[in-house]
Amino acid sequence: MDIEIKIDKSLTKESIYQELLPQIKYLVEQETDLIANLANIAAVLKENFNFLWVGFYIVKQNELVLGPFQGPLACTRIKFGKGVCGTSWKDKETIIVPDVDEFPGHIACSTQSKSEIVIPIIHPKNKEVLMVLDVDSEKLNFFDSIDALYLQQLAKIAANLF
Ligand code: SME
Repeated sequence: MDIEIKIDKSLTKESIYQELLPQIKYLVEQETDLIANLANIAAVLKENFNFLWVGFYIVKQNELVLGPFQGPLACTRIKFGKGVCGTSWKDKETIIVPDVDEFPGHIACSTQSKSEIVIPIIHPKNKEVLMVLDVDSEKLNFFDSIDALYLQQLAKIAANLF
C-alpha cells in the first residue's frame, strides 16, 4: 500500500484536524469495504492524537455493537439510551463528557478513561443513526468544541461509507 498519512505533530490540535480530514477522505475513497475503512480511521486518529481509545459502535437491530477500534479492550454491546454512546444514539447529538464519573449511567469499559466525546454518525438521507464514534481520554476535560467540530465532519465522511 502506498498511501501514507503525514502530519506534523507540532501543529495545534485544530491544524492537525484540518490536515488530517482531507487525507482521511482520500484514504477511504480508495477502498469500498466499510470495516476496512473504519479500522483505518480509528488507527489514524489514535496515531495522531493523544487519545486512550478511538472506535466505532455500529447500530445492529436494537443495540450498538463494537466495531473497529484502537485502544484497550472494550464493552461489546450497548443498549439504546444507555451510557454516553447509547444516549448519543437516542438523542442524535454529540456529547462531550468532561468527567465520566459525573455522567449518570456512564459505562466504564476501561478505568483509565476519564473523559470522552461521542458523535452520532447519521444517514444523510433517512437521518437514522448508523454508528457512533467514541473517543476516550485518560485526562479529565480533554475534549472541547474543536474536537466536536472536526469529529462531526469526520462523522459525515463515515456516514457516506455505507
Ligand atoms: N463509555 C462508553 C462506553 C464505551 S467505552 O468507553 C469504549 C459509554 O458510556 O457509552
